[in-house]
Amino acid sequence: MGGVFVGGSINMDVVARADRHPKIGETVAGKQVLYFPGGKGANQAVAAARLGVGTTLVGRVGKDAFGAELAAFLANQGIDLGYLQQTSEAHTGTAIITVAEADNTIVVIPGANALLGPEDVGVVPLVKGDVAVSQFEIPLPTISAFFRRACIAKATTLLNPAPAQTFDRGLLELVDILVLNETELGLLTATALCDATEVAGIVEAARRIQVGAEQIICVTLGRRGIVALAGREVLIVQGRIVKAIDTTGAGDCFVGSLAAQLADAVSLRDALVFANAAASISVQRMGAGPSMPTAEEVAAVLAAG
Ligand code: RIB
Ligand code: NA
Repeated sequence: MGGVFVGGSINMDVVARADRHPKIGETVAGKQVLYFPGGKGANQAVAAARLGVGTTLVGRVGKDAFGAELAAFLANQGIDLGYLQQTSEAHTGTAIITVAEADNTIVVIPGANALLGPEDVGVVPLVKGDVAVSQFEIPLPTISAFFRRACIAKATTLLNPAPAQTFDRGLLELVDILVLNETELGLLTATALCDATEVAGIVEAARRIQVGAEQIICVTLGRRGIVALAGREVLIVQGRIVKAIDTTGAGDCFVGSLAAQLADAVSLRDALVFANAAASISVQRMGAGPSMPTAEEVAAVLAAG
């Protein structure tokens, strides 16, 4: 059984809850302000760790109150923080989030995340069977260095190219599993995928970006489920209909759970079904990091059908 190694961002999420989102230039009264551990990398690590898989998070926070609070939260989840650094050169990453009617808007200020360098990920002890996970809230050269190391160690690489940003083929070639949503897929294929609600359209787009015969492209469609292209094979997982209260971090829950299942040598199909169920639990809870489910909670949802 392998471990999950996340090279990624750590943020404090400052969340304003309101009945609706303000329009540009408008002020609305909010209901609550909440502080949640977040950041895509940290969320993915929490998701994996809560499922009981050995998880290491490589990242940076500032030497400030948010940094200390986040490190304590992450340590409490059982995450190995041996490669977490506190830097006095920048503040802890912060996300300003508005949640209204379960939907969110997010402004991320990277702070210390922007200082995570290739030298930080170059020392991580990856071996075959491990899953190396990253996303786009840390510098791209750092992700490339991390994945090059993973490839040499024959570990599996999983990239979540979020938030949406274009990137070069050199990085894509280092990726075994790409997990992305429709917006990110649309950006990569330079097509507006408004019409890709059709499975055929999504598969066609995934085929266009797929590098090599083995690469897995997994497209998350929110409540509509998942369409994955695994080599030539197409896998479809139906969405689960639940009452969402906060979708922040749902994609991260999916990514972290998928990584944990694959590190546990579960088949891709079963791993996708499991991660889909995990994400459906996370959207029913407020916050990103704290909303990640345990293995027992996911098993209960799957058993209920
Ligand atoms: O994916 C959700 C995350 O994006 C939030 O936790 C926030 O920190 C932003 O990074
Ligand atoms: Na949530």
